[in-house]
Amino acid sequence: QEPQGHVSIILLGATGDLAKKYLWQGLFQLYLDEAGKGHSFSFHGAALTTTKQGQELLAKVLESLSCPKDVAPGRCAELKDQFQRLSQYRQLKTSEDYLALSEDIEALVQKEGLREAGRVFYFSVPPFAYADIARSINSSCRPGPGAWLRVVLEKPFGHDHLSAQQLATELGSFFQEEEMYRVDHYLGKQAVAQILPFRDQNRKALDGLWNRHHVERVEIVMKETVDAEGRTSFYEEYGVIRDVLQNHLTEILTLVAMELPYNVSSSEAVLQHKLQAFQALRGLRTGSAVVGQYQAYSEQVRRELHKPPSFHSLTPTFAGILVHMDNLRWEGVPFILMSGKALDERVGYVRILFKNRAYCAQSEKHWVVDQSQCLPQQVVFYIGHGELGSPAVLVSRNLFRPSLPSQSWKELEGRPGLRLFGRPLSDYYAYCPVREQDAYSILISHIFHGRKDSFITTENLLASWVFWTPLLDSLAHEVPRLYPGGAENGHLLDFEFSGSQLAFTQRQPVQLVPGPGS
Ligand code: BG6
Repeated sequence: QEPQGHVSIILLGATGDLAKKYLWQGLFQLYLDEAGKGHSFSFHGAALTTTKQGQELLAKVLESLSCPKDVAPGRCAELKDQFQRLSQYRQLKTSEDYLALSEDIEALVQKEGLREAGRVFYFSVPPFAYADIARSINSSCRPGPGAWLRVVLEKPFGHDHLSAQQLATELGSFFQEEEMYRVDHYLGKQAVAQILPFRDQNRKALDGLWNRHHVERVEIVMKETVDAEGRTSFYEEYGVIRDVLQNHLTEILTLVAMELPYNVSSSEAVLQHKLQAFQALRGLRTGSAVVGQYQAYSEQVRRELHKPPSFHSLTPTFAGILVHMDNLRWEGVPFILMSGKALDERVGYVRILFKNRAYCAQSEKHWVVDQSQCLPQQVVFYIGHGELGSPAVLVSRNLFRPSLPSQSWKELEGRPGLRLFGRPLSDYYAYCPVREQDAYSILISHIFHGRKDSFITTENLLASWVFWTPLLDSLAHEVPRLYPGGAENGHLLDFEFSGSQLAFTQRQPVQLVPGPGS
């Protein structure tokens, strides 16, 4: 391969939880995928921790990295060793520290006899630290002419429209829009990343179907079993709507609802069409939302945040929201967004349920006249966990046979007895990834390749906050309904949708009462 230049990746917050759990593994994967293709790399872990302590922590993290399943143990040890030699820790505090880093990178590039291709700064730090770091990078650590700069930012991106705008303005004074990569890790989940390619590859089949005439409703669901214990100081400020719905679930909604650009591999076109979808979201009224809180939450807050016994939190830990879009394609179609903590199961999916009308066919060959015999027709992007335990794309067999990229998706093996959304797996054309990959590895690869459509632009971020902020304001004093929480006590928290009403249901365990005379 032709030498293509040196890329340095600087991970700020290199010894924090996210970095330890996902980011170093993602960087290692990037190295495995790209190192043989002409670029040279250096990885710089940085934090406020002293150099000695940081080096020790980093050494432990690097030791725990794993290779893909098909790499033999001996080869894996070699690769890890190569990666470790390219990775180092340094303390970064002052703008002089950033200048020294910049000089070290320049020296390294010169020694290799290469040109500098670019620098990635991954901010795995709390947002209050953003401005100082951004200033130091801008003043002292930009790459030389001809090389790119990419800064990667983690949520929260503000608390409402105003604060998001302030943060965006501040960052905008240091970086160009094309330099910023705001992460929504759900965009890196394999099933989510497949929504647009799936719509594109199946254009012919979906052309007449993906609209208000044929779609009954769309459900975008992310249920969690974990609660907020240990995180209540963050959670009290954000709650489930800001934590999950404003970002992950709304991003997914726009991928389902947006008009498909002619060329889905153009980042610009995708982002532009997404923006139009954000702008078509109809303003929410309080009646479109059902909010709940698991019973133990207030007690956890009192304990962790030293609140008096009389304190009761109003923060929702569950939300079900009914969203409509004001455009011709989707007018009248309910989009149901739902997420919560301490629920009965962990599962994430997007389900597009079709009306059983014109396209009601029992099999590919026989059309069924008796509507009551029709089976549900749905397309499901199964994000993960739940019954399947892995990502998948499913299409009812009575809808159409989809096409998926055969090099990265394969047919899912049948599992006797497994039912999804009330139907046996054999009712679906079902596909799963050939190689399961975690969201951060995928996003890190997209950052390296400059694929901006997997990230949140300032415009799209603000459009999302314009949509959510009025509802958040109106819910600020609403008392959420309490739910027991947790799978272990057999309670199931769910929603029901009928007419235009969204209702919050709590199915209690069935009480068996002995009948008279028994
Ligand atoms: C994060 C939220 O963005 O996503 C967490 O802050 C949530 O509250 C998490 O638990 C869920 O992500 P995943 O990848 O575990 O489904």
